[in-house]
Amino acid sequence: MEQQPTILVTGGAGYIGSHAVLALQNAGYRVLVLDNLVYGHRELVDEVLKVELIVGDTGDRALLDQLFATHKIDAVMHFAAYAYVGESVNHPDKYYRNNVVGTLTLLEAMLSAGVDRFVFSSTCATYGVPERLPLTEDHPQNPINPYGQTKLMVEKMLDDLDTAYGLRSVRFRYFNAAGADPDGRLGEDHNPETHLIPLTIQAALGKREAISIFGTDYPTPDGTCIRDYIHVTDLATAHVLGLDYLLKGGKTDVFNLGNGNGFSVREVIETVKNVTGRDFKVLEQERRPGDPPSLVGSSARAQKILKWQPEYADLEAIVRHAWGWHQRRHG
Ligand SMILES: NC(=O)c1ccc[n+]([C@@H]2O[C@H](COP(=O)([O-])OP(=O)(O)OC[C@H]3O[C@@H](n4cnc5c(N)ncnc54)[C@H](O)[C@@H]3O)[C@@H](O)[C@H]2O)c1
Repeated sequence: MEQQPTILVTGGAGYIGSHAVLALQNAGYRVLVLDNLVYGHRELVDEVLKVELIVGDTGDRALLDQLFATHKIDAVMHFAAYAYVGESVNHPDKYYRNNVVGTLTLLEAMLSAGVDRFVFSSTCATYGVPERLPLTEDHPQNPINPYGQTKLMVEKMLDDLDTAYGLRSVRFRYFNAAGADPDGRLGEDHNPETHLIPLTIQAALGKREAISIFGTDYPTPDGTCIRDYIHVTDLATAHVLGLDYLLKGGKTDVFNLGNGNGFSVREVIETVKNVTGRDFKVLEQERRPGDPPSLVGSSARAQKILKWQPEYADLEAIVRHAWGWHQRRHG
């Protein structure tokens, strides 16, 4: 019997990467995880996903050379990165080293091992302040923080490496990843947590005194910021489709992954109250600098070319799955 392709998933012990590993397994791929466990969770890889975990860093060329020499890897899915926007402003060097230099080291090791297919986690933060909505892939990219810059730099590197060496890649620019595995096996567990849905759930669990709304006077229907939340399982499915596309000979391309529907901060808080049946304090604060009123993406391209169809587009499902996971893990 022909052996299934083996995929190296960097950052596979993290939030989105672990869901992608599950989706790859369900699609019949063999998976190997590389994660330095700075933010990842070993127990999710060992006990839930049960795949080989190599604890190491994408910047460690010797380790990568050994990894590619001892495993026959068909493609790489690269989730490993630091992703705290505020920290990237205060410590840009840390972000350029990890997200850019670490990725370049990985790409060099791949090229020297003859691995030439790459799926990359980019972000809507590469667009910067929207000039028009919904954001489409051809919108100008002018990131307003070092985190977004690091992702844009990798996108540019990938174009040049394709031209020079034929390294084919799919880059996914995601909007806000949210929710959890519908069966409650995996979920979001960032420390520190900065994302609205888990923070609000922490308030519902009584682990946080209140949840803050930053700005209630934006030009949106209820005055609070609107964001596009994409269910992590839908993100994972898109990654498998992107990989299939590359393995079937698809050329380098870029796709937004969002829900197409924006939800306001107030809507998220109300949905968490409804789903959990718990009340908690909500504080209305001043706007934060750099927050655009609305960020919503069009994923029509992924739907057309990859035949991707988000399954959990409603906010209620996203919050219900996140709540299920949090109750199990921290309740
Ligand atoms: N969460 C979102 O809403 C969102 C949105 C857009 C893009 N992204 C991107 O998606 C990817 C995954 O995000 P996440 O929310 O799952 O983050 P996460 O922190 O949960 O996962 C990242 C994983 O990568 C590991 N890691 C980091 N640097 C590494 C390195 N140099 N070598 C090996 N392992 C390393 C961490 O230990 C962690 O397990 C990131 O690249 C992020 O920039 C996330």
